Amino acid sequence: MSGRYYIETWGCQMNEVDSQRLGGQLMEEGFLPCPRPEEADLILLNSCSVREKAAQKVYSRLGEYRRLKHQREKLVIGLCGCVAQQEGQSALKRVPDLDFVLGTGRISEIREVVRQAREGRRPVAIGFPKEAPYEFDSISREGTHKGMVTVIEGCDKRCTFCIVPTTRGPERSRPLDAILQEVRQLLDLGFVEIELLGQTVNHWRGSADPVGRTLDFADLLDAVATLPGLQRLRFLTSYPRDFSSRMVEAIGTHPTICPYLHLPVQSGSDAVLRRMGRGYVVSEYLELVAELRTVRPDIALSTDIIVGFPGESDRDFEATIRLLEDVRFSSVYAFKYSPRPGTAALMLGDDIALETADRRLQALFRLQSRIQLEINRELVGRSFEALITSPGKEPGTMTGRTPCHRVVHFPGDPLVTPTGTLVDVTIERA
Ligand code: 5AD
Repeated sequence: MSGRYYIETWGCQMNEVDSQRLGGQLMEEGFLPCPRPEEADLILLNSCSVREKAAQKVYSRLGEYRRLKHQREKLVIGLCGCVAQQEGQSALKRVPDLDFVLGTGRISEIREVVRQAREGRRPVAIGFPKEAPYEFDSISREGTHKGMVTVIEGCDKRCTFCIVPTTRGPERSRPLDAILQEVRQLLDLGFVEIELLGQTVNHWRGSADPVGRTLDFADLLDAVATLPGLQRLRFLTSYPRDFSSRMVEAIGTHPTICPYLHLPVQSGSDAVLRRMGRGYVVSEYLELVAELRTVRPDIALSTDIIVGFPGESDRDFEATIRLLEDVRFSSVYAFKYSPRPGTAALMLGDDIALETADRRLQALFRLQSRIQLEINRELVGRSFEALITSPGKEPGTMTGRTPCHRVVHFPGDPLVTPTGTLVDVTIERA
């Protein structure tokens, strides 16, 4: 097979890696990437369905791509990712020119699926086969500054708002050896930063060690953080309840682990957390934050918040506001609750009016902007090592990330200090 492919990626880091896996396998098959869909013989839409808006956009994008078929008769269009897994066959019914559907658990079958699609069959590959191979050798990596390594796929939690268990399937940890091999390969290639990925990354489990103890995420951190050549280690996304003291200790022990943690709390109200099925209360979350700050006083924390969850009262929302004031996150990703098919929250009733949710979201953003500016102002005058992630928007500038994952802009020349270089910067302005 040969031709040119174009992949459009929506959603989280997991989807980004999936796109790199798809691209790499297609390249092995003789395909080459191209920068514009108009030039492609194969278009893949790697979709996200965590909130309704993202899922809706999929069909309008597919509609736009369909039109390209008038110009390129042999164009093959495939729906991949979370919406593919969720919709399966019905996506083919809904989009007459769609050539195949490939779910998140069947990435390794892309070659076969494209072959079938080119023969005019319309294959649908969804579900989660137990023995799906994970060929990290054929991932088409982007850049050399951040190497993403999936350590655990799927999710067995049952948060009542979340569609991920449906779209990404049951939890599967990758074996320690395979993970270490992949990280070593990335370090050999010159990657500066390694990011371990999983929907609940800190729930990773390995096989038993010689004395019969099952390895967990603390052991994984110990093993990866000490690999020669590693400069920065990060991981995403941690589930609060799955954090153990040993994991906190690992974060305190290894200087290569970045002083940054994304720790979604979702709400500052115990009543809402209970209805969300999160399995912790606010005080437990705050204890964890305190433990983390004890071992790593400079740690920056970010979080996810859902506002307008069914039954969220003004008092519940005020509790979330208080939590933000107490913790002082370095950044907050906040979303209006979006009802998702097949999730338990659909049965809760007590829906919140859209205007109320909007108002709460805006109030939350206002508060967080203020907090963030205050925190950033405290950093003025301090020096950090920045990892350059891209040229800046202004000519003559570069953009990078501090170890605590803050974005910094500074004068620079991509020819002298290209993406992936570490430079020392002093903060002048917030
Ligand atoms: N509605 C709104 N936000 C959601 N998230 C997950 N599911 C939903 C939903 N149904 C948010 C959570 C999660 C982040 C990735 O997306 O905050 O942590």
